Amino acid sequence: MSAQTNFYNRFSFLYPLVDIFLKPQKKKFFNEINQLPYGNLLEIGVGNGSHFYLYHNHNITGIEISSSMLNMAKKNSTGAMQLFEMNGEHLKFADNSFDYVVLSHVIAVADQPEKLLSQCHNVLKPNGKLLILNHFTPNNWLKYLDRIFNIGANLFHLKSLFYMEDIKGMDQFTLEKEIALKPLSYFKILIFTKS
Ligand SMILES: C[S@@+](CC[C@H](N)C(=O)[O-])C[C@H]1O[C@@H](n2cnc3c(N)ncnc32)[C@H](O)[C@@H]1O
Repeated sequence: MSAQTNFYNRFSFLYPLVDIFLKPQKKKFFNEINQLPYGNLLEIGVGNGSHFYLYHNHNITGIEISSSMLNMAKKNSTGAMQLFEMNGEHLKFADNSFDYVVLSHVIAVADQPEKLLSQCHNVLKPNGKLLILNHFTPNNWLKYLDRIFNIGANLFHLKSLFYMEDIKGMDQFTLEKEIALKPLSYFKILIFTKS
């Protein structure tokens, strides 16, 4: 078991506190997702699934690497959603099987984000969409805060100082839409198409 899986297994009970802070952005994110034509959707790193009620469209499959998080997610599952314990860096789905792949606050905590992106690319159908919600270090005073937090961020298994350009493999996708969320554009919704 990776140190990161161990971390989420141990601290899953605290995640609802983090979630209070993330809720407004998730509403906007899932609203964007609901507006897309109905399709097969894979969400990687569903966490405790407290946002599942925000899905109003699509055939949803969710995966999670931490068994504790997954158990919480199962309690929040709705309708015919399918949930599996699985590592997004080693997906067990057939290539070209999903119209959409969702990464909500996952890309900056993944052990190997490049591997994760290449797996997303494999399972997406041609012209399928990769939907990302995450924090990105902005070019304003917040970058100094990110630098300070980055010193201890390893303890929380996340990258506080986070630039998408640093992630190899993004060039497999074409950026279609970018929504900077208020306040301060620290969080962004990015919608890519598989190129
Ligand atoms: C910061 S939480 C975000 C949870 C949820 N997506 C949300 O937006 O609230 C990151 C989650 O991704 C999971 N995770 C991290 N790396 C993963 C991977 N390689 N495969 C699947 N899940 C992963 C963690 O266990 C954790 O539950």
